[in-house]
Amino acid sequence: MRVRLLGTAAGGGFPQWNCGCANCRGVRAGTLAARARTQDSVAVGDGGDWFLLNCSPEVRQQLESFAPLQPRAPRDSPIRGILLTNGDLDHCLGLFSLREAQPLVVYTTPAVRAGLERNAMLQTLQRSRDQLMWKTLILDEEQPLAGELLVTPFALPGNVPLHLKATVAPSLEDNIGLRIRHGERRLIYAPGAATIDALPRDADCLLLDGTFWSDDELIRLGLGERRASDMAHFPVRESIAQLKAMNTRQKLFTHINNTNPILVEDSPERRAVEAAGWRVGEDHLELTI
Ligand code: MLT
Ligand code: MN
Ligand code: ZN
Repeated sequence: MRVRLLGTAAGGGFPQWNCGCANCRGVRAGTLAARARTQDSVAVGDGGDWFLLNCSPEVRQQLESFAPLQPRAPRDSPIRGILLTNGDLDHCLGLFSLREAQPLVVYTTPAVRAGLERNAMLQTLQRSRDQLMWKTLILDEEQPLAGELLVTPFALPGNVPLHLKATVAPSLEDNIGLRIRHGERRLIYAPGAATIDALPRDADCLLLDGTFWSDDELIRLGLGERRASDMAHFPVRESIAQLKAMNTRQKLFTHINNTNPILVEDSPERRAVEAAGWRVGEDHLELTI
């Protein structure tokens, strides 16, 4: 299977429009050893069939950056489906940019679908009866995608989307990871995880929540009161320690917040991540699994 990292930043992107932190200022000025990143999304392909894992607000630019995702006929898309790991805006807002009467197949848990269906704007994807087709992701059940690709969703501890917080009861289906299998090859995609205890350990490639380096990152930078744990993101520092023994050929972090020091290519935190056998995901990176 082919895997292309379309975007590797957390919500807001890197740099983030209203952020003047050292990382955002440095990447804008070109004075920092760091690359700009769009918001988290992955393309997975087998032959000519492609799937998007999450659909970021920058989806248009992400599709234009990768020829295999582009039309082969006057009205066409090789994207056979879009799988959502939660209903956060950084993961689903791009759906509304794909509204030009193109049929879309969207795979979600029932809880994530219910959250999306509260929004009147969803009707813009339902101009004809068959424009939006829902497929249900059932926790721990493997189902075929296309070609030889199969997906198994699994629950990960997370939060309900900010815009639903006061209005829905939390559910195990709010935040999931995806195991994509092609024969014996397995990709685990888990861009948001409050803990990593439930993470399957049998991956050939793991794309893990890299939002924050440390629990108190935003507090120490004077950018807010919220801890990584309040936002349901397990810190990178803890992940590399806890997963030391994990026997996975390729391990990468994605969904990286603009404040995270691992974005800086010559930082001690970046060196620690690499010394532990991990890579820091970046946009356009292609992996063969
Ligand atoms: C997150 O990853 O914690 C969310 O995307 C936060 C948000 O929706 O702003
Ligand atoms: Mn996010
Ligand atoms: Zn910033």
